[in-house]
Amino acid sequence: MAKIKKIAVLTSGGDAPGMNAAVRAVVRAAIYHKLEVVGIEHGYEGMIKGELFTLMSKDMRNIIHRGGTILRTARSLEFKTEEGRAKAYKNLKEFNIDAVVVIGGDGTFRGAGIFSQEHDIPFVGIPGTIDNDMYGTDFTIGFDTALNTVVETIDKIKDTASSHDRTFFIEVMGRDAGFIALQAGIATGAEAVLIPEIEGQAETLREFLIKAKKMKKMSNIILVAEGNNIGGAQEIANQVKSEFKDFGIRVNVLGHMQRGGSPTAFDRFLASRLGVAAVEALIDNQRSIMVGYKNHEVVHVSFNKTIKGHRNINEELLKVADILTI
Ligand code: F6P
Repeated sequence: MAKIKKIAVLTSGGDAPGMNAAVRAVVRAAIYHKLEVVGIEHGYEGMIKGELFTLMSKDMRNIIHRGGTILRTARSLEFKTEEGRAKAYKNLKEFNIDAVVVIGGDGTFRGAGIFSQEHDIPFVGIPGTIDNDMYGTDFTIGFDTALNTVVETIDKIKDTASSHDRTFFIEVMGRDAGFIALQAGIATGAEAVLIPEIEGQAETLREFLIKAKKMKKMSNIILVAEGNNIGGAQEIANQVKSEFKDFGIRVNVLGHMQRGGSPTAFDRFLASRLGVAAVEALIDNQRSIMVGYKNHEVVHVSFNKTIKGHRNINEELLKVADILTI
């Protein structure tokens, strides 16, 4: 395989805190290893449109602590088509790109996996999403920050919940996964957590509310993962309102504030390690892999495995949440 001289880096899908730290690590590691680096703006959209520009080490100053992504991001529909990917390939060739580092979630890796089967430019992926739903890594960049943001916000809402004896339904992100909800639930001492991974929670919620009413426990936090099997927080609140009239029910949908803000120390550290690992994997002629983090070690997982695999919720965490909400 020809020696890699020039790599490109992009961020794709939903932004996640720590993406900048990852970009910085990729750029600096590449320069350290005497490679040229090109940034691609707006993820795969920019790859198709030719939004490529040279990055220098000094461009990476003062970004490690910034949320969002200086490279911008997008969810590209065109990259899902063969024609779109062919345009992207043409641009990469024009810029003499030998390999690409993509930072994003499962959609990003799916795109990278298909592209690598069709074209001869190697891709390596870094997991970046607040959802923490990637198979093959214990953590994705951005999850820790989002979790801390959610916990901080719930702590504040709890002040009102207890002062007014109110029951709050708080909706958090996570798409089809309940990692943010479950861990935030444990960390804030929420009374109930509704997540996509568990069926039949409508009945469990009803039983909980009956018990709470009997015990005259009117101040409660019920965490609702957006992908749960009952409905959105507002919908669930509307459903229970008529039966449980004694509760002062309020709803908060936390929304995109969960994606913003300065990354935690852990996310910066994770992003820095994975950024360096991604560049070194490419230099070692690896392709179509994600660099992940398992048991505090960097690991390589094939795109195939990470795309097809399903990250299950940790049963032990479910038990902990159960035990602590009696
Ligand atoms: O994947 C990250 C995420 O924030 C999910 O938790 C959420 O479902 C989705 O992105 C929201 O996407 P958008 O910002 O495109 O509305």
